[in-house]
Amino acid sequence: MGTALPPIRLAGDVVIETPVVLAPMSGVTDLPFRRLARELGTGLVVSEMIASTAMIRENRQSLKMAEVAKEMEGFGAPSSVQLAGCDPAVMADAARLVVDRGAAVVDINFGCPVKKVAVGQSAGSALMRDEQRAAAILEATVRAVPVPVTLKMRMGWDHQSLNAPRLARIAQECGIRLVTIHGRTRQQLYTGTADWDFIARVKDAVAIPVIANGDIVTVEGAAEALRRSGADGVMVGRGCYGRPWFPAQVAAFLREGVRLPDPSLAVERDILLRHFDAILVHHGEHVGVRMARKHVAWYSRGLPGSAEFRARVNALETRPAVLDAIARFYVPLIESGAERGAERGAERGAERGAGGQAARDGLPMAA
Ligand SMILES: Cc1cc2nc3c(=O)[nH]c(=O)nc-3n(C[C@H](O)[C@H](O)[C@H](O)COP(=O)(O)O)c2cc1C
Repeated sequence: MGTALPPIRLAGDVVIETPVVLAPMSGVTDLPFRRLARELGTGLVVSEMIASTAMIRENRQSLKMAEVAKEMEGFGAPSSVQLAGCDPAVMADAARLVVDRGAAVVDINFGCPVKKVAVGQSAGSALMRDEQRAAAILEATVRAVPVPVTLKMRMGWDHQSLNAPRLARIAQECGIRLVTIHGRTRQQLYTGTADWDFIARVKDAVAIPVIANGDIVTVEGAAEALRRSGADGVMVGRGCYGRPWFPAQVAAFLREGVRLPDPSLAVERDILLRHFDAILVHHGEHVGVRMARKHVAWYSRGLPGSAEFRARVNALETRPAVLDAIARFYVPLIESGAERGAERGAERGAERGAGGQAARDGLPMAA
């Protein structure tokens, strides 16, 4: 394959060296996950969506979500913090706060389809139906902060109002530096398949970089999404479940046509252990053990005995117990040279493409 994938310069010193982006995902892309993905070669990581109203109250949960890993700034993989809201002044204040706390980029959410956000608060994807308010929010946020502001949205509210190209142009005029398009409408939620061809219409409408998002679960899919959209990079969400190294594999394939192998089971286990402990440090042991369950399950998918392992871990409540379960599961597999079933890739593609995975895991279906 081998498509050129030049770096994206968002501002003087804010460069996305490798435009393969980890999608913002509520309940998933907390600081431990973003830090890991970045260490393993992701070009840009985006926080979970933070409600601007909660951010300006500086509530504990929002502050935690807005934390960024400062030690890795300046290495061509900036940290972005995503905000949602419908009041320009509140969004501007929230943006200042997250920049004060280290965000190198602020991302604005016009994609969230969740009723509570889109209908209850007229935020997220609802703003695609109110271009005037959308412009006011974009303008106020851009004016409020010295860092680049980006925008993530869907194709439109529904197939009768596919206004992403027009809104992208408005965003560009407001000073937005990059737009990401999830190739679905709000009404589709996570059903159907992402329309990578439509993203080309956004690309044609603007001069700022465009990132293609939706249903990228294989390196070939990433190449196809890029080819069909003509976008400047790709964003991967559910395809990173249990494999924070996937963006690096995508980048190697797009850049050099090289297929980096998955890590060995021993390395996978080590990454999982590091991820698990980072979750416990960030959230505390009590909450962390629970938060980690879905990640532990995702890593182990496709391995012999993974269903029993998952059930066991879901019943455990302490760090030593989970560490013991991980060792009992992985060590015999590593020693016997077991391999992951070949179906893992297909299984991920099929389930994640439809968004079924998040639903089954009881995760919030934001944006
Ligand atoms: C569990 C979950 C949480 C999400 N949370 C957010 C969010 O906070 N902000 C956002 O812009 N998009 C959010 N999304 C949407 C993703 O960023 C992405 O646009 C969508 O999943 C399609 O990409 P994918 O097929 O690669 O997963 C979320 C998606 C999932 C599955």
